[in-house]
Amino acid sequence: MNNILITGGAGFIGSHFVEYLKQQNHPYDKVIVLDKLTYAGNLDRIRSVLDDDFIFIHGDICNRAVLEEIFKSYQVKTVVNFAAESHVDRSIEDVFPFIQTNYIGVQILMDTFKSNWQNEGRFIQISTDEVFGSSKEINLNKNNETSLLNPMNPYAATKASAELLINSYNNTYDFPSIIIRSTNNYGGLQNEEKLIPKVIQAVLNQRDIPIYGNGEYYRDWLHVTNTCEAIYQVTLKSKIQESYNIAGTGLISNIDLIQMIICLFKEAGHDYHGQLQFVKDRPGHDYCYLVDDKKYLSEFKMKKISLNTGLKQLIDSVLNT
Ligand SMILES: NC(=O)c1ccc[n+]([C@@H]2O[C@H](COP(=O)([O-])OP(=O)(O)OC[C@H]3O[C@@H](n4cnc5c(N)ncnc54)[C@H](O)[C@@H]3O)[C@@H](O)[C@H]2O)c1
Repeated sequence: MNNILITGGAGFIGSHFVEYLKQQNHPYDKVIVLDKLTYAGNLDRIRSVLDDDFIFIHGDICNRAVLEEIFKSYQVKTVVNFAAESHVDRSIEDVFPFIQTNYIGVQILMDTFKSNWQNEGRFIQISTDEVFGSSKEINLNKNNETSLLNPMNPYAATKASAELLINSYNNTYDFPSIIIRSTNNYGGLQNEEKLIPKVIQAVLNQRDIPIYGNGEYYRDWLHVTNTCEAIYQVTLKSKIQESYNIAGTGLISNIDLIQMIICLFKEAGHDYHGQLQFVKDRPGHDYCYLVDDKKYLSEFKMKKISLNTGLKQLIDSVLNT
């Protein structure tokens, strides 16, 4: 049997990946989706794709007994781990759940994988560009796969810690891991606490838009479909013990991104009458994330969806529902 376990598959990116997989001529006999359904998980995101071969299990990656049961029942060969606490602001309020899921959860998942080892198995960890920390300027060298991990907020620190643990398993147990670090994602069904859906909902409902500090923070956005495509390619074709950075379509400041969304709404016939509200900054707010994806693009192809096109589609879909 060639079965794949997708953890955190009822979250934003995980659910898109489950749907993406469903549309591919993929090699898996069974696709098992495990999710704790925290505030960020929602089974409705994937309900329509579930059937005898796409199976949902409600559970926690920190629960070894649940994992053992899944690995034994389904002889899992491949794991793609999306399960995480993912919101930086929440990690500033309370670090513990982040350490629990993003670090200890990864250890428990790897140990279960290791004790049920399958030939040619692979363990894909979905990490983040935030593990490299903040660049001081927008035109500095971009971080590549060998750059130093230098996380600057508790969320990023737990993701970087998981990477270090994975590297130690590679070295100690010849563990078949692959790490994928993507930049900021956007697309449909994203939790409203994240910047783009928050701004879209504010513009749609004529609410004021809160902006941290002066809004001069730079991010490189990638459409979630491109992320799923990259994860699929790497999961199927990459050598083990590799890592890949996946960049977006170019840096944009938060304030310019917000103006762009307001403009796209206007072009679609929806004028915005609310205000931009500059609010107290996030403590330790990272100025800019810069990653280089030359390695990924030299091995695999990707036609990136432009930010303008991706946002336009998103805005059209919210205006038409
Ligand atoms: N969203 C982004 O822009 C982005 C960028 C780079 C990397 N990532 C990474 O991609 C992954 C997915 O991000 P997302 O934005 O979809 O997150 P999300 O918060 O939308 O979803 C996380 C999912 O994990 C589940 N979950 C949380 N704790 C769990 C546990 N202990 N056991 C099982 N399931 C659990 C939640 O219920 C939820 O469904 C994360 O690992 C994140 O670090 C996200």
